[in-house]
Amino acid sequence: MPADLSPIDKAKFAAAQRSVGFVEEGMRVGLGTGSTAAFMVRALAERVRNEGLRITGVPTSTRTADLARELGITVATLDEAGWLDLTIDGTDEFDGDLNLIKGGGGAHLQEKIVATASDRMIVIADPAKKVAQLGAFPLPVEVIRFGWQTTKALVEELLVSLDVLGQSATLRMNKAEPYVTDEGNHILDLHLQRIGNPRQLALVLNQVPGVVENGLFIDICDLVIVGHGDGRVDLHDIARGQVAGERVAFAESENVFADLDD
Ligand code: 5RP
Repeated sequence: MPADLSPIDKAKFAAAQRSVGFVEEGMRVGLGTGSTAAFMVRALAERVRNEGLRITGVPTSTRTADLARELGITVATLDEAGWLDLTIDGTDEFDGDLNLIKGGGGAHLQEKIVATASDRMIVIADPAKKVAQLGAFPLPVEVIRFGWQTTKALVEELLVSLDVLGQSATLRMNKAEPYVTDEGNHILDLHLQRIGNPRQLALVLNQVPGVVENGLFIDICDLVIVGHGDGRVDLHDIARGQVAGERVAFAESENVFADLDD
């Protein structure tokens, strides 16, 4: 491992490296989006190359699809693959019930569809992603472009009656232009600071006309793997209700780190 990786990247790598140990021959695997997921795609590609592992990857964004193809992973759409064995993805926050805020990378719509269509979702994270209560990270809500300002006003009005601390929404920007998702939509980031009832919020947000999907993942994640900079990993298992500690051997693999740009 190159020594110049930051401690946080080493933590992401450790989680990613452990997660691909759950992938078995012939599996159909959902491939998440973001910097942690990119480490996972690289680690998975190493297994494909070194062990001849045969899997089909279902990417959750064009970014991940490009990376997976470039690294030699066989890629299919969700409709081609059908039901998936496993999805591995990053997160922006996770709480003690393994509920998540996702969408910091703008891909939560495809990510939620893919994770929901999987037998199991494994989330990989660095320690900063663990929170006692969701909401410090702005909650992404994908909205269609038509009438987005009206949708924003309706969402803000709705938040007044809900158990959240902040009630403002901002349109996500990409430099001077509104951010556009892979599905051609915009994203509103909700600055809530604290979400008292994530399940209720997830349900009611999707009732607002114009909202396509919010970034709350409730009862979707089965296991969170938290990596640490020294190679330790903690496995938070929802079924077993326990946290197990392990250690990952950092392979001397330059391939995993070559051309990191995600
Ligand atoms: C993309 C996501 C990402 O998983 C999330 O933003 C975490 O990203 P990173 O691993 O770069 O911290 O939800 O939509």
